Amino acid sequence: MTGAEQVSRSGKPAVVAHRGASADLPEHTLAAYERALAEGADGLECDVRLTSDHELVCVHDRTVDRTSDGVGAVSEMSLAQLRELDFGSWHPAAEPASVLTLRELITLTLDWRRPVRLFIETKHPVRYGSLVEQKLLAMLHEFGVATPPSADHSRAVVISFSSAGVWRIRRHAPMLPTILLGDTARMLGGSAATAVGATGIGPSVETLRMNPDLVDRAAAAGRVTYCWTVDEQPDVQMCADLGVRWVATNKPAKVRDWLVTV
Ligand code: G3P
Ligand code: CA
Repeated sequence: MTGAEQVSRSGKPAVVAHRGASADLPEHTLAAYERALAEGADGLECDVRLTSDHELVCVHDRTVDRTSDGVGAVSEMSLAQLRELDFGSWHPAAEPASVLTLRELITLTLDWRRPVRLFIETKHPVRYGSLVEQKLLAMLHEFGVATPPSADHSRAVVISFSSAGVWRIRRHAPMLPTILLGDTARMLGGSAATAVGATGIGPSVETLRMNPDLVDRAAAAGRVTYCWTVDEQPDVQMCADLGVRWVATNKPAKVRDWLVTV
């Protein structure tokens, strides 16, 4: 069995740590991802943005204000400037932490002692032309994960709310799995995912509760479902019952426990 097959061997949803073990530790820090891996997460989710000197860093918000001791837009700061900030101490449980680059996170993921999949969310890729996708694909090529033999055997998945962003990834890296995210059924239930060639759909858990048929409709079109952000036991049960492939959660240890009994 290959590493990628081991990632998805269970019939139950696989567990993706959303921004790391972010209920317990500051999101997008090395500590949060290491905790998630130690807790047995099958995948890691991260948001990526470009710095002013075109480095990809793992930061969710447009600005650093909420998750660091600095202020300002990520896109207007260099990596060196971001490295001067503390991305850990804002969180009650945290030690000081450096900004995490995508390069560092890919390295952690690929070096981990068992196979883990990385779900990379491009934030507002259209705002910067195609630079985000260009940089991302160049890095995935550099790590040898941009051309998997199939979507099921990929260590990286690109996810985005931007249909243009998904389409551009599919165009330049057709073997790379992609997930079109959406927080309404309208964004995901019609032809949107088909039009851009996404291999999966990513409804919010609230959207899925109201539109459980999305999973079967996606499956009928050959697509998997990735649901976010699944932090409550009844929602884990719902995802298992519906046949969701991946659940993204801020609480990977708890969700793994709950999945034992579904
Ligand atoms: O995994 C998808 C989810 O992260 C999308 O929402 O705002 O948490 O990036 P957000
Ligand atoms: Ca995200």
